[in-house]
Amino acid sequence: MSKNLSELSGRKGIVDNLFEKMGQAAKETGAPSKKDLDDLAKEFLMGKANTFGTTSFYDFMKPENKGKKAYVCNGSACLCAGTQDAVKQTLETALKADEIGHMTCLGRCHENGAFHYDGKNYSAKNADEILAILNKTEQPDLDQYHVVASKAVLTLPYEGFEKHYAPFRDALKQPPTEVLNEIKESEIRGRGGAGFAMGFKLEAAAKEKSDTKFIICNADEGDPGAFSDRYILEQRPHSLLFGVMMAGYAIGAEWGIVYIRAEYPESVEIVQNAIDELRANKYLGKNILNSNFNFDLKIIQAQGAYICGEETALINSIEGQRPEVRTRPPYPTTMGLFNKPTVVNNVETLAAVHYIVKNSGKNHRELGTEKSSGTKLISLDSFVKKPGIYEVEMGTPLSEVIYEMAGGFTQPMKALHIGGPLGGIVPISKIKELTIDFESFAKHGFLLGHASVVCIPESMPMINYLEHLFDFAAFESCGKCFPCRLGTKRAHELLRKSATTDYKISRELFTDLMDTLRQGSLCAHGGGIPLPAKNALEYFGEELNKHFEN
Ligand SMILES: Cc1cc2nc3c(=O)[nH]c(=O)nc-3n(C[C@H](O)[C@H](O)[C@H](O)COP(=O)(O)O)c2cc1C
Ligand code: SF4
Repeated sequence: MSKNLSELSGRKGIVDNLFEKMGQAAKETGAPSKKDLDDLAKEFLMGKANTFGTTSFYDFMKPENKGKKAYVCNGSACLCAGTQDAVKQTLETALKADEIGHMTCLGRCHENGAFHYDGKNYSAKNADEILAILNKTEQPDLDQYHVVASKAVLTLPYEGFEKHYAPFRDALKQPPTEVLNEIKESEIRGRGGAGFAMGFKLEAAAKEKSDTKFIICNADEGDPGAFSDRYILEQRPHSLLFGVMMAGYAIGAEWGIVYIRAEYPESVEIVQNAIDELRANKYLGKNILNSNFNFDLKIIQAQGAYICGEETALINSIEGQRPEVRTRPPYPTTMGLFNKPTVVNNVETLAAVHYIVKNSGKNHRELGTEKSSGTKLISLDSFVKKPGIYEVEMGTPLSEVIYEMAGGFTQPMKALHIGGPLGGIVPISKIKELTIDFESFAKHGFLLGHASVVCIPESMPMINYLEHLFDFAAFESCGKCFPCRLGTKRAHELLRKSATTDYKISRELFTDLMDTLRQGSLCAHGGGIPLPAKNALEYFGEELNKHFEN
């Protein structure tokens, strides 16, 4: 990270944004021209290496992806469903092979057969449906998933603009400390993966003296298997925006930024419409509802890089810097976007603020368990009988969600990969021991993470699944620290060689590599990826034995 580049990027404020301009320059052909990059470097007083270095990082701006027309989802759920070879083959009948790229993941884990074409996402069941989409003839009615709640907080029905924003109007009559106290009292922990207390971060930023502060909503939901943030963005956008505005009020921020992944174009459109509605009702701008609260919202559309979900890489991304992870301290609450105090929170965390402000922090605190308050959304893929989004109180048995609410599996499963690529691989026999909360997962050596569930069928060899995970980890590594940059690649090579030949991996070497990744990596990307490998070796040792020496 360069503090100077942060200042230079921030010189024009968030409205005239370098990263956004890079995206616009790439829109037509898939990558900005050399002249575009030179002009942007000049405009923002940076070196040409900076603008080139940034754009060459992203799937939707890098020169080698220029001219791609369709992208096939290569996420974990589509891989396990085995639908993607057929999707690719059908696309190749209508497009040239070099016009087809890959995206991970499109959040269509409930249907699979997912691909992106002409700025939109689809999942198709057969070749006819794919060709209909390409030829723009009959469009299949897709993206259907169940939404089931045993305790509704985030999935409560939207009551219409006036009613929904009544708690916002009431809150503006109170000092910001009141809102902050309610959030603190709710004891809500971040839903993006790390489970960090939201109130703590807001309080730290509130205490900072600064003319400018930012709230950033992390809508980069990159974990293959997760689509619960997409549910909120597309079905409950006003819950999210309510949360961003209230968090902004609590810390004295003037800007809320919703950073939405490029793989969710529909979400961008829906959230923008909701922002427009707020603006039309004069809930944004100066002196909102005569409260002296000045606040505005802006969407920044990402450009395809998983690591931008990590909060400091995300901040670098918005600044138009190469999205490498920053060392901490300083923490974003002290020195975040454009070197200003910044709070980054996940979509689900922010969306829960509506319930907290409306019903009180104490009321939220009473939901869930002692250390994990509230409810949690869970994404279930197409291997359960009722795929979709499930909302349960923290502490609910996992078995209740899988077998009772979702109806069980459609075929024999060997494991569940829960919490994204960095989450644990839970063998089916362990389901009955887990409850949906941070502590239960940690106690059993797994990770709740964002609570996405990818079902791994009996028919999927564990070595192939691990190979897929390390391929993903190597491809998405930001490259800042060498244990991860080199280690994920080496692990992928070992697993691939063993999966495709009779090569046997040295256990000592593999254990060493995993230890180095876990201990030596700068962030949880490299530090977290050994967990699923460890679980797989522990619970599927017999199956994996033939791939290892001795
Ligand atoms: C490799 C990596 C990817 C991440 N991806 C996401 C993501 O897609 N969405 C998200 O909210 N948090 C993600 N996080 C966690 C963020 O760094 C950060 O902790 C989170 O946005 C904070 O919000 P919360 O406290 O509300 O969870 C990721 C972290 C790492 C290490
Ligand atoms: S662990 Fe990987 S993703 Fe994280 S900083 Fe190091 S290289 Fe980047």
